[in-house]
Amino acid sequence: MCGIVGYLGRKNTKKILLNGLKELEYRGYDSAGIAVLSHGEFSSFKAVGKLVNLEAKTKGFVTNKFAIGIGHTRWATHGKPTELNAHPHAGHNSYVVHNGIIENYAQLKKELLHEGVVFLSQTDSEVIVHQFEKNLQYSTNAFKAFKKTISEIKGAYAILLITKSEDKKIFFAKNGSPMLVGINEENEKYFASSDTPLIGQCSEVNYFEDGDYGYITPNELIIYDKNANKREPHFTKLSTNKLSAQKDGYRFFMEKEIYEQSSVIIDTLLGRLSEDRIIFDELDKNFFDGINEIKLCACGTSYHSALTASYMFERYSKIKTSVEVASEFRYRSPIMSKNMLFVVISQSGETADTLETLKMAKKAGLKTLAICNVDNSSMVRIADTFILTRAGIEKGVASTKAFATQVTVFWMLSLQVAQIKKSLSSKEIQKQIKYLRAIPASVHVEDALHEKIKRLSKRYLNGHGFFFIGRDIFFPLALEGALKLKEISYLHAEGYPSGEMKHGPIALADPELFTIALLPQHLLYEKAKSNVEELSARDSTICAISPLEFDKADDFIQTKEHGHYMLEFFEMMVVVQLLSLEISIRLGNDVDMPRNLAKSVTVE
Ligand code: F6R
Repeated sequence: MCGIVGYLGRKNTKKILLNGLKELEYRGYDSAGIAVLSHGEFSSFKAVGKLVNLEAKTKGFVTNKFAIGIGHTRWATHGKPTELNAHPHAGHNSYVVHNGIIENYAQLKKELLHEGVVFLSQTDSEVIVHQFEKNLQYSTNAFKAFKKTISEIKGAYAILLITKSEDKKIFFAKNGSPMLVGINEENEKYFASSDTPLIGQCSEVNYFEDGDYGYITPNELIIYDKNANKREPHFTKLSTNKLSAQKDGYRFFMEKEIYEQSSVIIDTLLGRLSEDRIIFDELDKNFFDGINEIKLCACGTSYHSALTASYMFERYSKIKTSVEVASEFRYRSPIMSKNMLFVVISQSGETADTLETLKMAKKAGLKTLAICNVDNSSMVRIADTFILTRAGIEKGVASTKAFATQVTVFWMLSLQVAQIKKSLSSKEIQKQIKYLRAIPASVHVEDALHEKIKRLSKRYLNGHGFFFIGRDIFFPLALEGALKLKEISYLHAEGYPSGEMKHGPIALADPELFTIALLPQHLLYEKAKSNVEELSARDSTICAISPLEFDKADDFIQTKEHGHYMLEFFEMMVVVQLLSLEISIRLGNDVDMPRNLAKSVTVE
């Protein structure tokens, strides 16, 4: 995920910006840059790859007097990780850094190009600086031009902008992406997109609210809120613990990442939905021509999201779809027909088995697509086309937000294919787009829900095993729930289709067998319910997850009522993630680094 820093003061600006960026390294990035304005002169440096490359480039650059500066680490979303695409982006007399996504950049860029503006990058962010310079021509001062620019852009952003026309001011704006400003007794001002770069530098910080914009000078901090009313900053003391700052106060990265799902799904959806259409700029218009079959290949959690995709591709896109575990596919002489689209799914883009299947498909002449979270990863480079899931860096070994964004991409993609193949009416697609927009709210973690799961988890620490059960698309979710639990709790757990229990596994049923039952209201409720009743009759201990009251369970986690089963899916996903987390914490395990596991499995 991208990171931002900014500095105004008399100390070594270059060093402060580079140190600040180093503190943001843990978020992941593929390029970085800084721009410094001192005595009316700009100096700017950018480099692809690690920060040492940027440090090397700035070696002879000295900053030992008053200056303002901005810096950025970039995690590519629009455009490849190249130097030109790295921030800060330059206009004639100004530089900008931006986190987030400008949804209407294509329209703004079109107008600017028409007026003769030259763009150097493929990013959405570059429009901000050109739009600002355009407005500056007609404004009496830089702040008015900045304010107008902010009113013209749509989307999520944290922005810092510096300009020669006011060389003692840093302009800022925040909407949907985090940003704060810190102060100290030496009259310095520091900006950052999270606490860590400010720890040890500032005594007090002000966290900006969505819609805030304004500027700082050596003596002022001017903030306007979303209604254009001037407001006072709310300074609070800054924590001194860096590791806990990286975790934003959560106990584990996994917990933080579960809570982040709502905001990363907003990123996944951004720019990809209109009122009535799904738009993947990444796929050319004829991408699905001649395709009559889809093959999905992946490992682990990504395999589970591929399974969910198979339900949606067949149900919505009416296209034959099959899913394979990558390590199996490699050695079983699979039949690959020319009309097959071959899709790999991977958080890291480096999983050896999945990567190998992609190479096999390429060799067989198939059209290939990678659904991936890491730009410039091996799979992204090798596949014909790729879609980035935009989950940001995932630190917890147990995957959570990567899964959530993969399923979101698949729901959109299955609707896009339905749109192309006309297998769903445009009215139905419009309806589902409304539901897609409701995913972020459905995964928002309510305090009461988390508290309930925390309390209830103490009953599930012993016993001889867990069955997670669900029907239809809730079966892959059951598999994923069981995988999460076993990875971090080391308890035995299996995912099963509810209807399959009576064909063998029900023999295990007794009070020491824990059944976690997924009972959505809008998909096969009655069928799934009678399967759970069969288990209840055999005295299995049951924890039911459903929006509808269920009196045959020992524990009941009530989810909200939603208009569509996929929204129930997303909320139940959060429930099973939290349940695994809380059981594992009670067992005293290192949730973020479970034994025997690695985040990226680059060996066979
Ligand atoms: C489970 C988990 C693993 C990965 C699997 C594939 O929580 O993280 O099962 O999903 O190793 O990894 P990627 O998605 O990077 O290919």
